[in-house]
Amino acid sequence: MTTTTPSTPAVDDDGDGPARHRDADDPGGAGDRFDRDVLPSPPGATAALLRSLLAPMKARVALTTLLLLLQQAAVQAGPLLVAYAIDTAVPAFRDDRDGPLFAVAAGYLLCALASGALQFAFIEVSARVSQDVLLDLRGRIFRHAQALSVDFHERYTSGRLISRSTTDVESLRELLDEGLQELVTIVLSFVYISATLLWLDPGLGAVAVASFLPLYLLVRLYRRRAARVYGARSTAIAAVIVKFVETMNGIRPVRAFRREAANDAEFAVLNARHERTNGDSLLEMARYVVGSRLVANTAVAGIVLWGAHRVAGGSLELGVLAAAVLYLRRLYDPIDRLGMFLNSYQSAAASLEKIAGLLAQTPSVPEPEHPRELPPRKGEFPGREVVFDGVRFAYRTGGEVLPRFDLTLPAGQTVAVVGSTGAGKSTLAKLLARFYDPSAGRVLLDGVDLRELPMPELRRGVVMVTQEAFLFSGTVADNIALGRPDATREEIERAAKAIGAHEFISALPDGYDTDVRKRGGRISAGQRQLVAFARALLADPAVLILDEATSSLDIPGERAVQGAMATVLRGRTAVVIAHRLSTVEIADRVLVMEHGRIVEDGHPDELIGGTGRFADLHKAWRDSLA
Ligand SMILES: Nc1ncnc2c1ncn2[C@@H]1O[C@H](COP(=O)(O)OP(=O)(O)OP(=O)(O)O)[C@@H](O)[C@H]1O
Ligand SMILES: [Mg+2]
Repeated sequence: MTTTTPSTPAVDDDGDGPARHRDADDPGGAGDRFDRDVLPSPPGATAALLRSLLAPMKARVALTTLLLLLQQAAVQAGPLLVAYAIDTAVPAFRDDRDGPLFAVAAGYLLCALASGALQFAFIEVSARVSQDVLLDLRGRIFRHAQALSVDFHERYTSGRLISRSTTDVESLRELLDEGLQELVTIVLSFVYISATLLWLDPGLGAVAVASFLPLYLLVRLYRRRAARVYGARSTAIAAVIVKFVETMNGIRPVRAFRREAANDAEFAVLNARHERTNGDSLLEMARYVVGSRLVANTAVAGIVLWGAHRVAGGSLELGVLAAAVLYLRRLYDPIDRLGMFLNSYQSAAASLEKIAGLLAQTPSVPEPEHPRELPPRKGEFPGREVVFDGVRFAYRTGGEVLPRFDLTLPAGQTVAVVGSTGAGKSTLAKLLARFYDPSAGRVLLDGVDLRELPMPELRRGVVMVTQEAFLFSGTVADNIALGRPDATREEIERAAKAIGAHEFISALPDGYDTDVRKRGGRISAGQRQLVAFARALLADPAVLILDEATSSLDIPGERAVQGAMATVLRGRTAVVIAHRLSTVEIADRVLVMEHGRIVEDGHPDELIGGTGRFADLHKAWRDSLA
């Protein structure tokens, strides 16, 4: 199913321009599930995705956990040493024994050094883990999106895809780079500190542990609310990106129809909505921070009061109270950061869910499970027989475009398809190139159902050239060679000559080595089409489909191509769709299509001589030339 325009689907013939527009403005909106950012995915898909990303790095993840465990042990030894200093080393020093004090100082220093070194090692290892995860994820998104069928891309806008592989991947990066470390540190310090406090003084320890309950409730409440505001925020930013990409992709019509002011207004609304959701999330965060500090400070004040009473009564040593207060401060400090973690966790979870939904999409035009080979070619010509056998087809959105369609194109025949706009000509072409599969019936190439052909074989066999001749970044030669990557320079030039493109290419600054993107402006729409033709000729397909492929050429240009066309089409089965009837002259057979049906079928001369639709069309066209 090669097309020489394998990019975004042609907007001209799919009629969904306005739909996309609505899409961008109203991502939560109407009907079609593709309107939403989060595509449906099987339950557990997000967790499974995360597991599959982390699975190859189990060892390194274990190492980072170990490093953090050790680092926290070193950090949390501090207050314990302070307690020892106050209660043991200072009194010993008063008694002229300085050994304990030096031991405390040395221990403190050692812990500081160790925690620094461990932290460094941790950052080093964890940064590599997160880099590898993101590398893998972005690669998967690209590969998967590229493999999905055309109908997916017609509905899931490129802005959304960009959003998936940028902001969504970025938010996962934030979680992996900072958030997870934060969480593990917090959990570890909770465990270490509670254990140490309980060991130092079970009473104080119990109070500290009891203060976890209100904090836990607060965290739960925040999590629920944050999930909502963060979901809204990421939908809002996606809408901003979609609008941006769509506008810039369509900059020509934007200019031509003076859409700037209207776009500005629409963008301002989306932009403001994003800011508002941002504000909401900050506010939610602020509430949480204030609440958690209140709980923490109440607990500290309570412990100081109670502890002082016990120190005065002699049931608690001063050093232990000092250590307890230090520990509690350490315990509560990271609680603000827990809020941050929850934020990055929320956005990463939302992002990952969207990515998982995208990755869960399966191509609607899948590779065959039991592929069949094409029979060997008969004779010297490349053409193969094409049969539409009881084909019916409807796009997912909309009614039936082809109601039961039967057609046989003998190998090597050139068929012109004409008919009014919306008759289903491009749909026919797209079914033949297997951009879609029929809802019923079969499309056969030399007797083999297209669904049974391995994709590479189908791509070699059926090539479609459309009006929107897309050039990829690279040289002109590269773009022609797309038809057959192993082609030599001679073969590329021969194809260009056969199609009449050689002259203009030679006149480019670097000839065939001219970079089409850098000097893209110098290649006109008609010249692009010539390049696309050369590409198709080089591919040497059995079936060639030209859908409005000469419509960007001027009349002399089209005449010139027409000459070459005979060369290109010779021996191939060809479907030529054209509004300009000049193209029809080279056809062996003309099909007139209306409302998805063939209403006339015959040799051009025969139809012109008759009294049907084609005779009228042809007469009108003749008159328009005169
Ligand atoms: N991607 C799509 N999704 C939904 N409906 C579509 C899509 N593409 C085409 N249609 C509808 O299918 C019908 C046939 O469209 P098709 O593009 O095949 O017409 P056409 O004969 O090629 O017209 P034109 O001469 O204007 O190119 C139209 O009613 C169109 O609205
Ligand atoms: Mg069309």
